[in-house]
Amino acid sequence: MISSSEEETKKIGKQIGKKLKKGDIVALYGEFGAGKTVLVKGIAKGMECKEQVKSPSFVFMHEYKGKFPIYHIDLYRVNNLNDITALGIQEFFGSFGESCGQGVCVIEWAEKAKGLLPENSICIELKILNENTREIFVNRDCGSWS
Ligand SMILES: Nc1ncnc2c1ncn2[C@@H]1O[C@H](COP(=O)(O)OP(=O)(O)OP(=O)(O)O)[C@@H](O)[C@H]1O
Ligand SMILES: [Mg+2]
Repeated sequence: MISSSEEETKKIGKQIGKKLKKGDIVALYGEFGAGKTVLVKGIAKGMECKEQVKSPSFVFMHEYKGKFPIYHIDLYRVNNLNDITALGIQEFFGSFGESCGQGVCVIEWAEKAKGLLPENSICIELKILNENTREIFVNRDCGSWS
């Protein structure tokens, strides 16, 4: 899909959010400023979330109330797989996945969790084409990404 504005990306997110089911993991790929957080705002709206979605960069995870819980994770500050293991992210998707299973996990900078995300994650890549234009790929098969 092509988005020509922040608003359009939010709308795309909203459509995606409406379709999400409990236990879904949404892995967001794309460089700094690509629009991952903007897309999450739309996803949260689509999940009937009334809270304001903020970038979780400094706290690792925010939890929001939607029609079911939204776990908004940002791996930007994660440097290597050891960090990820230390943060317990593997457990989050493994045994702790129980709690994610009660809601939806949306992960920014999913490339940092290469090889750790479940195969059935919904992978979304955002590419910057120019200042206001983004190309958005929604692909259930993470293939080479995860
Ligand atoms: N079509 C578009 N879709 C989304 N954002 C856009 C678009 N055009 C311009 N923008 C701008 O790009 C920026 C995207 O910021 P956002 O925080 O969502 O990026 P991000 O991918 O989450 O970055 P980070 O890696 O820092 O978390 C915003 O300032 C937004 O206004
Ligand atoms: Mg962000």
